[in-house]
Amino acid sequence: MNTLSATPHDEQARAILRGNDRGGYTVPTSGLYPYQWNWDSAFAAWGFATFDTRRAWSEMETLFTGQWSNGMVPHILFHKPDPGYFPGPDVWAGTGPVHSSGISQPPVAASFARRIYDMDPEAGRAAVKALFPKLFAWHKWFMTWRLDQGAACITHPWEAGRDNAPDWDSAMASIDPVGVGDYKRRDTSHVDPAMRPTKYDYDRYIWLVQLGRRLKWDEAALLEQNPFRVADPTMTFILLRAQRDLAYLGRAIGEDTGEIEKDILVLEAGAETLWNPSIKSYDSRNVRSGEWAGCVSNASFLNWYAGIDRPEMAEQYDRISSICRYPVPSYDPASDRFDAKRYWRGPTWGIVNALIGLGLDECGHKDRAAALRLATRDLIAKHGFAEYFDPHTGDAAGGGSFTWTAAIWLAWASPTMGTA
Ligand code: GLC
Repeated sequence: MNTLSATPHDEQARAILRGNDRGGYTVPTSGLYPYQWNWDSAFAAWGFATFDTRRAWSEMETLFTGQWSNGMVPHILFHKPDPGYFPGPDVWAGTGPVHSSGISQPPVAASFARRIYDMDPEAGRAAVKALFPKLFAWHKWFMTWRLDQGAACITHPWEAGRDNAPDWDSAMASIDPVGVGDYKRRDTSHVDPAMRPTKYDYDRYIWLVQLGRRLKWDEAALLEQNPFRVADPTMTFILLRAQRDLAYLGRAIGEDTGEIEKDILVLEAGAETLWNPSIKSYDSRNVRSGEWAGCVSNASFLNWYAGIDRPEMAEQYDRISSICRYPVPSYDPASDRFDAKRYWRGPTWGIVNALIGLGLDECGHKDRAAALRLATRDLIAKHGFAEYFDPHTGDAAGGGSFTWTAAIWLAWASPTMGTA
């Protein structure tokens, strides 16, 4: 970190992290998301690390208190009841040590653990030693239960963290949400329904939760019976990157990393099964039907973050960046399914930008990386620490005072982090 004087936005971002801190864990934003979310928390730790290393490690430690005996780390930990959220712990009936959901989320934790460790190796050594076996077990759970031809799959749209992305449209259409019953959504009382998933989506989200619960979240049974199984670039690229970072941490603390190195080769081959030649992009694959989603999403561009360069992706990236002022949109603005304000069907998300930007930079696309960082800085500085943004106008959308937007500001987008 360099020592450029802190901007007022740095101060605001720190205040958001502190304000969303519930003691050992951070909520994504109060009201809309009142619990600990898996990948949000890892981003929060990265943000905390810019001013409080101890607090950064405790965020990670709390996340792993929810780890299941099969290695899975849930996407939500319900530490304290909150009636403002649906579906809560009673609907999920997770089987771990802390009340939780029954699915996971993109495993960015190892990668942020590495970054936090690199910021202060001495202060981080004990934390890394304690976390290493837990991260290893979590990654193993993906490798054991969630691979299709080496690509990582999701079993619920929420698992990729891109809830209503067009990537899942065909798999969602294969579900008939019969018997889902009545339920009351809470999200649309916090945020404009036009910025949230539709009822069509929600019926299927809940139907899938009910299926998992009925099967007691048994992965073998879900593998057989769940109609929703999609091999996805979010999970595949992020897991691949996480394995590389876990191997790095393992070497730093003197662990044998042979098995992780083997898993990296499996995932590298798996990532190539997500290459859709007909759209010249990484894409999602419906494992049940074999169909391509046909989607150039912001997750498609996580290839660089996973250490994979490909000239066609740079062309796609330039095309998409040229048609919106604030890239990277979660879905191709040239597509007729694009919706500038609806969650993962168009808006720009700062956290995905941060991952894409890190990858571009590491793969030598320095100009693209710098431009993306500047555009994201401008977006947040002008429109605030929103959950997501309209990629054309920059309008703030979804929840406000958002933890992960504040975190990526501090750790990546802020001018304090160096000149871009
Ligand atoms: C939404 C997002 C997901 C995130 C969660 C909490 O469900 O799609 O990625 O983890 O909110 O912010």
